[in-house]
Amino acid sequence: MDSGKDYEVKDMSLAEQGMLNIEWAEKHMPIMKTLSARFAKEKTFAGVTVGLALHVTKETAVLVRSLRAGGAKVVITGCNPLSTQDDVAAALAKEGVAVFAYKGENTEDYYRYLEKVLSYHPNITIDDGGDLVTMILTKKPELLKGVIGGCEETTTGIIRLRAMERDGVLKYPMIAVNDNKTKHLLDNYYGTGQSTIDGILRASNILFAGKDVVVCGYGDCGKGVAMRAKGMGSNVIITEVDAFRGMQATLDGYRVMPMVDAAAIGEIFITVTGDKHVIRLEHMKKMKDGAMLANSGHFNVELDLDALGKAAKHRKMRPFLDEYTLDGKKIYVCAEGRLVNLAAAEGHPSEVMATSFAGQSLACAYLVKNRGKLPAKVITLPVEIDDEIARLQLDAMGVKIDALTSEQKKYLTSWEEGT
Ligand code: ADE
Repeated sequence: MDSGKDYEVKDMSLAEQGMLNIEWAEKHMPIMKTLSARFAKEKTFAGVTVGLALHVTKETAVLVRSLRAGGAKVVITGCNPLSTQDDVAAALAKEGVAVFAYKGENTEDYYRYLEKVLSYHPNITIDDGGDLVTMILTKKPELLKGVIGGCEETTTGIIRLRAMERDGVLKYPMIAVNDNKTKHLLDNYYGTGQSTIDGILRASNILFAGKDVVVCGYGDCGKGVAMRAKGMGSNVIITEVDAFRGMQATLDGYRVMPMVDAAAIGEIFITVTGDKHVIRLEHMKKMKDGAMLANSGHFNVELDLDALGKAAKHRKMRPFLDEYTLDGKKIYVCAEGRLVNLAAAEGHPSEVMATSFAGQSLACAYLVKNRGKLPAKVITLPVEIDDEIARLQLDAMGVKIDALTSEQKKYLTSWEEGT
């Protein structure tokens, strides 16, 4: 481990490769360049310290650079023990960012690093899963007086925040960046769809064509994964607990059935529900020899691996692939049940993260502009900001669209005209 006053990373000699990877991401995130120039001109974040607990990836580094361009002091740690890209962490440290993260962190370091971030007294917190805000509220309430607000990146984090709001413990405004349509629809659908398959492929190099692939959960992430698996020639089965989503999956042409039935059919199982113990020992016992399990939900709770570990013999097969022998049959688990797209691959592609992180940086700007005026609640960004992100991204892709004529605008706001 390499460490200094403001950093603790795996190996500083990786910094050069990290710089190249960040440059590669930046090239595919032109919208962030546009925003960085704006923040630099307006000094949007002058005097503001931003603390982040995000996946430390090349795309996150581009977000960090945009905040710093606007004058922010930035301190960052990871939000999952397996998702840090060590070369990127080293590059950030070399650029003078306070960074505490390495791939394969133990639980003690994970929480120690969250505390490190809070030791910089952030005015804005950016979370992916809600760990920073939870630590401030439960262990460091003295920091609240300096906090302007926070941003949350994931569905899982939003669920936690809404529970805090309901229980009256949320003490500062939290922007639900996850709920921007330019985040939710692109990141969860296209991002998770592609990167989940990417992670499973890098862990196993298994063929998807002709396989029975069970996708657990048909939210935006599940829809994306199902679409990509189908496109690769898999026979996709969906499991759901929500009647509307179950109906939608059926009408989209998938077989829908309870997990207990899918367990006996599937060859690859992918959880994307955000809930715990979606695949339990009772299901694993029904699986075929060679079945492979992967999770792409935020926390490593969707597969009951504790129960599997107790009932089965374990062997490390290759990086990010573990073998369990259960009742004489083999079951393979990708990336220890942690989010497979970031643990075994590189997470969502840069083009997708560009809109998610445009949302994060604009949410920070919104918090600064509205300092002291926002309630301690989960807040959705004004739709105009979301629309601006979509417009900027279209510009970046060189795509032009139509504009409403004045006659059309009038029609859309009137009721008199009928058949
Ligand atoms: N979440 C999913 N993919 C990501 C990425 N590439 N960078 C940061 N957070 C992510």
